[in-house]
Amino acid sequence: MQAEKSDSLDSTGDHSLTGTELPRIKGAIPGPRSRAWVDRLVQRECPAITARRSRRAMALGLADHDPPVWVQARGSNVLDADGNLFVDLTAGFGVASIGHAHPRLVAAARHQVGLLPHAMGDTFFDPQRVRLLESISALTGMERTILGSSGSDAVEAAIKTARIATGRDKILAFRGGYHGLSFGALAATSFLSQQIRAPFSGQLGHHVQHATFGGSLPPLAEFAAVLVEPLQGRGGMNVPPRGWLAHLASTAKDAGALLILDEVFTGFGRTGSWFAFQAEGVRPDIICLGKGMSAGFPISACVGTAAVMDAWGASTGQAIHTQTFLGNPLGSAMALATIDVLREQDLPARAARLGSWLREELMSIPGVVQVKGRGLMLGAVLNGHRPMRPAAAPRKGAGTNIALSASRYLLEHGFMVLPCGEDADILGITPPLTITKEQLSSALSTLADFLDSCT
Ligand SMILES: Cc1ncc(COP(=O)(O)O)c(C=O)c1O
Repeated sequence: MQAEKSDSLDSTGDHSLTGTELPRIKGAIPGPRSRAWVDRLVQRECPAITARRSRRAMALGLADHDPPVWVQARGSNVLDADGNLFVDLTAGFGVASIGHAHPRLVAAARHQVGLLPHAMGDTFFDPQRVRLLESISALTGMERTILGSSGSDAVEAAIKTARIATGRDKILAFRGGYHGLSFGALAATSFLSQQIRAPFSGQLGHHVQHATFGGSLPPLAEFAAVLVEPLQGRGGMNVPPRGWLAHLASTAKDAGALLILDEVFTGFGRTGSWFAFQAEGVRPDIICLGKGMSAGFPISACVGTAAVMDAWGASTGQAIHTQTFLGNPLGSAMALATIDVLREQDLPARAARLGSWLREELMSIPGVVQVKGRGLMLGAVLNGHRPMRPAAAPRKGAGTNIALSASRYLLEHGFMVLPCGEDADILGITPPLTITKEQLSSALSTLADFLDSCT
């Protein structure tokens, strides 16, 4: 009875959205329908997952800070359950590279789901998987791929490959780095380690050592691989010093360790080239891809050179690495459609151009003191920010984190942004690569209004 009544709550979906619209906010965020959905969610989902609402409430000194509930999206627009229209400056964690629900993506998905939504991992494959593997090779110049379902999967396949190829166990990763939260990936993740790693430390291996991102390196003779994000995303849009990645590559090579670039966030055009390694002039042994690869289907890839990947040896019939959904046809078809759109619209180049413009515009706003990142993967440092670790913050410190306050203000005015960095003190801006200048300009003037109101 309750479910029936509440299910009419999403009746505001199915509008024809262009994806290029400016926000239309009707009232308080969240509205009553979103609140009703949140009330149902918190009764049934593990509370640790929905806890961020209390984190934000605590950080901002607000009693109630639930999220608007998404019912539809197109291009750079998201419609919530109350009919509010937002501009998404997060691209849904960087996934909607070509925008949400791109017509080409939708058509490819519709066709494939009616034809063959699922095949059989390592046992029976389908043509879409072959096309995708070939396409990834052509784009990266690397011969072999292990597909997965999440960024964490890709990272774990890369770590396994390093073990197989070198016979060594140790992995060097970096402070502030984020590689995912499943056990293998979590061992390498250092971002917010007190909160997200420490509870499980007894169940993690001891093979990962962390060094300073952009800093000096320990001797690598015993290491299987160096695992690094070319640009730390969740860690705060940190760009390493010029030449550091090349230094990392040559130091690893000299020591017989592999270079694994985690391009789960930076890949598929986000930083202004197809992959960040191409702009850096670095040749990694392995790259990890995910997020914007399919603009919405959970699919990822660990891509490596033949020299490294062939160390796995030929299958003896019982795959030593696979999963039920490996190389899923629907995901493969959606990734292929995404790659087509990225290529046809030359979106990596657009990200470079628009990113340079956006950086300049951000810097011209009084109160923006620094812009970090590259392409359409930017982080704005705002004036007067006082870093505060959300989980440890005393309640009396509420309201002092200007990036969290800015993200709330922007949300209430129709722009979705995510704070990033260990102290959530940097305003992350990672929109769809198709976002219009008008949408960005409108977000910039809203941010300027907010900063003006803070002085
Ligand atoms: C650089 C990087 N690697 C790996 C991951 C993990 O990806 P997933 O959440 O799909 O497991 C993320 C997610 O944010 C990421 O940013």
